[in-house]
Amino acid sequence: MGDSEREVDVSILAQLKKSMPITAFSSFSDGLQPNQRSREHFITNTNLNDDDLWVPYASGVWFQPCCFNVTSGGFTLVLKGLPGSMVGTHYHVAGVHGYTMRGRWRYLEHDWIAEPGTYIYEPAGEAHTLVITEDSPEPMIAFFVVEGGLIYLDKPTNGTFAAYEDGLTLLELTRKHYRDAGLDALKLDLLVR
Ligand SMILES: [Fe+2]
Repeated sequence: MGDSEREVDVSILAQLKKSMPITAFSSFSDGLQPNQRSREHFITNTNLNDDDLWVPYASGVWFQPCCFNVTSGGFTLVLKGLPGSMVGTHYHVAGVHGYTMRGRWRYLEHDWIAEPGTYIYEPAGEAHTLVITEDSPEPMIAFFVVEGGLIYLDKPTNGTFAAYEDGLTLLELTRKHYRDAGLDALKLDLLVR
């Protein structure tokens, strides 16, 4: 491994320490009784201007949840990232749809740059590294529909398992943030399907 590869490797692992994907597996549950689960339609009112509602995820990266799909393992959220920040290399076991609302960002593995109005479709089986470009004139804000779990890798090329994330693990993380921040975690139950 060359020095530059090692630097990337370390930065991904350092970032994963700050986020909360899991590395140990047991049975997860949404914690709700069957009669607490709803299949009805609902709305989520995110508030991009309310700092308390942004759940810290990685260094310079936050999200506001829209839906936790504990049936498929998917989730839907609004992601915010400061220029120069990143979400480490990860592999998707299911497809992803993304829509850029603010800022500029890219995947290191592709040559396009997303701007406000850019829609992205990502097939299952893709591994990529999300970077908010240094020249982004404002924090990146994008809406993502993630249809299943994702696996964080320990390095960008030929990586192996580092951590796992899905709608259930993200629900746990969000509940913890809400409790720590004095927010009403019960509101999150309404976003579970
Ligand atoms: Fe992704």
